[in-house]
Amino acid sequence: MNYEEARRSIEKLTKDINHYNQTFFQEGKSLITDYEFDLLVQQLAKLEKTFPALKKKDSPTQKIGESPSKHFPTVTHRFPMSSLSNTYEEAEIQQFINRVQKLIPSATIAFVCELKLDGVAISLHYHQGILQRLVTRGDGTCGDDITANQSLIQNIPVRIDRANLPEDFYIRGEIVMPFKSFQKLNDHYATKGKLSLANPRNGTSGLLRRKEVDEAIKDLQPLTFSPYSIAAEPIIKSTQEKSLMQLKKWGFDLLSHPQYCDDLEDVISYIGDWEKKKTKLPLAIDGIVVKVNDLSQQAILGTTAKSPRWAVAYKYQPVAAETVLEDVIYQVGRTGVIVPVAQLQPVQLAGTIVKRATLHNQSEIKRLGICRGDHVYIEKGGDIIPKITKVNIKKRKKEATAIQFIQVCPACCTPLIQHPGEAHYYCTNEGFCTPQLKNQLIHFVSRNAMNITFLGAQTIGLLFDQNLVRRPADLYLLTQEKIAALPGFKEKSTHNLLRSLASSKRMPFDKVLFALGIRHVGVTVAEKLAHYFGDIDQLMSAPMEKLLVIREVGDKIAHSLICYFREENNRKHIQKLRTIGLSFTASKKETASYELAGKRFVVSGIFDGYSREDIYQYIQSKGGSIVSAVSKKVDFLLLGREPGPTKLAKASALKVPTISLASLQKGVEEGVIPYSTTID
Ligand code: IVH
Repeated sequence: MNYEEARRSIEKLTKDINHYNQTFFQEGKSLITDYEFDLLVQQLAKLEKTFPALKKKDSPTQKIGESPSKHFPTVTHRFPMSSLSNTYEEAEIQQFINRVQKLIPSATIAFVCELKLDGVAISLHYHQGILQRLVTRGDGTCGDDITANQSLIQNIPVRIDRANLPEDFYIRGEIVMPFKSFQKLNDHYATKGKLSLANPRNGTSGLLRRKEVDEAIKDLQPLTFSPYSIAAEPIIKSTQEKSLMQLKKWGFDLLSHPQYCDDLEDVISYIGDWEKKKTKLPLAIDGIVVKVNDLSQQAILGTTAKSPRWAVAYKYQPVAAETVLEDVIYQVGRTGVIVPVAQLQPVQLAGTIVKRATLHNQSEIKRLGICRGDHVYIEKGGDIIPKITKVNIKKRKKEATAIQFIQVCPACCTPLIQHPGEAHYYCTNEGFCTPQLKNQLIHFVSRNAMNITFLGAQTIGLLFDQNLVRRPADLYLLTQEKIAALPGFKEKSTHNLLRSLASSKRMPFDKVLFALGIRHVGVTVAEKLAHYFGDIDQLMSAPMEKLLVIREVGDKIAHSLICYFREENNRKHIQKLRTIGLSFTASKKETASYELAGKRFVVSGIFDGYSREDIYQYIQSKGGSIVSAVSKKVDFLLLGREPGPTKLAKASALKVPTISLASLQKGVEEGVIPYSTTID
């Protein structure tokens, strides 16, 4: 390549990389895979090395992450946060070790390997052992102060035993969204009709950059923190290994499975082990990090503009494959939601044969612009369900026509509707559409609902097709003879199923309510409704305003409840279930502990005879929740002795009522906690 060609390539690569960086960091969207992105950066770095005169000061090879955003206060890091150089080649690990050895020839060098968690880097500032601030890495020099979003994270210790510690120190680590939270959050978004998150990392960065987060999401506490270093002067521990052990002793959760490694052989075996085991982890990783263990050796090696010379990241190649999109089928969920599913030519991917991939909804089909017969790339990323990442346009046939989303239900031909602001289409033939009814039955017997074991989807299909069961109440009319006549049911399994049906009658009201499968009413909402209203009659007659009193219930859920109970068919079905003996009343114990249901408290000051933890536990045991900052959404500021002046001033400015512990206890006992009016 000549000079002019190199100049043009560098310009184009720089422009593309900056664009991908911008959409990733500012909009939380990945337009290309990590692997493709890393390849572009590597290409640029290579050209800059060959043509140093063309290397620009602000080249993306010299920059870390993102510029701080305008939405949060900017904080300058006392110790800059660098990035890591990365590689996809094992041979380069050998080169890294050789380089390190060359720079410190006389010493024995040991390493620590850790998992490279795929999330967002963050620095926690502790002053005199107390957590002060959470700051994102940003551009490495300055980051965003996202302390306001701390409540989204489950496991950050707010106080550390400060004996022998410097006044200020900083704990660095990764905030990640475990797969379980990712799933829960996507379920939550689905009930709200919002688009689902592409992967846990995008979810994490998206949540952390939100100015306002729904209380329901805060309650999920979907994020987790795992530390990887302590930055302090003087240093607190002499090696990486000891620093990690210290972090563990302070109460941090170490999710990175660190391992001491003597040499290359140890490092390579760590890489190999985790390549096999990584799919079993509860969270996403995108590689491993090899670090020089001794911190004084790290200091000698130092840092380049972007990354330290004492560490390198080895990234696993993404598991992707190319296959043919044979067709798109449409599934009908229990609420009538239509979900398009790609039917693929079977292909081997990360140890399994993939035949299907989710397409989420119509917008995803549009975004991908897929045609029947297209060659598509599929990937198993953070999320376990494979998805189509893009189309191999070069292989598209001329006659290919785009996939058109259906307009009527594939099962019952009812025209589909889209609720305003929702991404999904629905079939409205609720009481009659076969897949809806079958899926309602499957939902009814599921573990979080009535937990009726020995009754899988297949048996339900059979019962339905033989006209033995159409709605859940029919399950309780099944007799020994009818069950025993089903294929695969012997004496013991028949007995087990009958016993499981009988014991499901003892399920509490909230489970029964969830089992009914009312659209948007998930486990938590069902629990809150059951506890707040106490029985089905109160709930069925509740007007919109009364439903909205519950914090977790918004317009959409309230509307769905009203529509459900208005339907004659549903009311009759509830009556049938009641006659059968299912529980439609919450037990005393359940209602009694919910006097503070839906109420949010900020706690400030000292409470003689009680620790902060006691106070938090008391409020939570009565169904209330604790938040750290006073805002309009807070119901009460609970005041002890010497409350914080800022909290008091803010409560007064926002007219948030204050309450003493004694008044609160009295209110709880007498059951008269008014909804957001000043008490004291
Ligand atoms: S060490 C000075 N250890 O990877 C280097 N980083 O691509 C400090 N990451 O910004 C990083 N897991 O956000 C380190 N066990 C681990 C990590 C880790 C994830 C992230 C971190 C860093 C990025 C670099």
